[in-house]
Amino acid sequence: MTYSRIVGTGSYLPEKILTNHDLERMVDTSDEWIRTRTGIAERRIAADDQAASDLALNASRAAMEAGSVSIADIDLVIAATTTPDMVFPSTACILQDKLGIGDCPAFDVQAVCSGFVYALATADMFIRAGKCRAALVVGTEIYSRILDWSDRSTCVLFGDGAGAVVLSRSDQPGILSTHLHADGSYSKLLSVPGSIGGGKVQGNPFIMMDGNTVFKFATRVLEEVVHEALAENGMQVSDIDWLVPHQANIRIIRSTARKLGISMEKVVVTLDRHGNTSAASIPLAIDAAVRDGRIQPGHHVLLEGVGGGFTWGSALIRW
Ligand code: UT7
Repeated sequence: MTYSRIVGTGSYLPEKILTNHDLERMVDTSDEWIRTRTGIAERRIAADDQAASDLALNASRAAMEAGSVSIADIDLVIAATTTPDMVFPSTACILQDKLGIGDCPAFDVQAVCSGFVYALATADMFIRAGKCRAALVVGTEIYSRILDWSDRSTCVLFGDGAGAVVLSRSDQPGILSTHLHADGSYSKLLSVPGSIGGGKVQGNPFIMMDGNTVFKFATRVLEEVVHEALAENGMQVSDIDWLVPHQANIRIIRSTARKLGISMEKVVVTLDRHGNTSAASIPLAIDAAVRDGRIQPGHHVLLEGVGGGFTWGSALIRW
């Protein structure tokens, strides 16, 4: 059997830190409100001359170095992003060029905060179908550019960053299962409704969110996808060594863990340091837990994401 395995992880956060106290000077909010309602302490803001592909470039180099994978080995590039460098070409193509990777498929996946899970599932299917040997999968976002900095209900929640993994062909699993879901009837709950037309932005180019409804939706589906993944693999909750959820809100993460009966000690949380980085949040958290030694070979790691679309999904991995 052919499987895919994650052989290297990497991440990158821009230098500029925006703390909750900084936000107190920008909108009517408080460090206390942001910490208790979201778990976020600070987030990173990309420099004006940085694009999503630049953040991805740094994360990708780190992942390739960690996996001892060379540029010549990569034969698929997938970038999960909601904040691409430009309308086209894709951020994946721009990244491919910046890395100096030769001819291979390269494309973006747009599934908002579930983007990394979607991209990983797609790369896994390419590898298992024998269509590629080593895939670079990146989640990269610059949400600071689509935030209305006068709207306290959204601007305190998000940040910029990138995370990457290299997936390689293997005769040992690897990725045990992936499950992807979407329900477009919820599209208005979380969106950036603007578009480009006639040389101008048409409509609102900032994030709009019905936070309470999104919160309830997220806690429900994040529990469901864990049970779905475990059932497919004949596993129990107790078999999970690490849960790596999308990093949106500590209350969503705690509520999911409580409903599942998973101790928070087995849940990887990094959102305090970078806020909600959408498609970058899961690979940022994976890289942190790999580099500090929590995730070890043989561990069962369950990734789960939910976001605009609505989209949601999981990936169960034997590390
Ligand atoms: O990535 C996936 C998509 N995103 C998410 O998963 C986010 C999901 N939603 C959430 O995380 C939460 O709903 C929020 C963090 C967005 C909001 O938390 P909440 O506990 O649901 O607060 P709320 O919207 O019910 O607002 C409570 C109060 C309101 O004031 P009143 O009406 O009670 O007087 C808000 O106006 O908090 C107020 N508020 C704030 N106060 C200080 C809203 N934003 C802020 C703020 N600072 N930044």
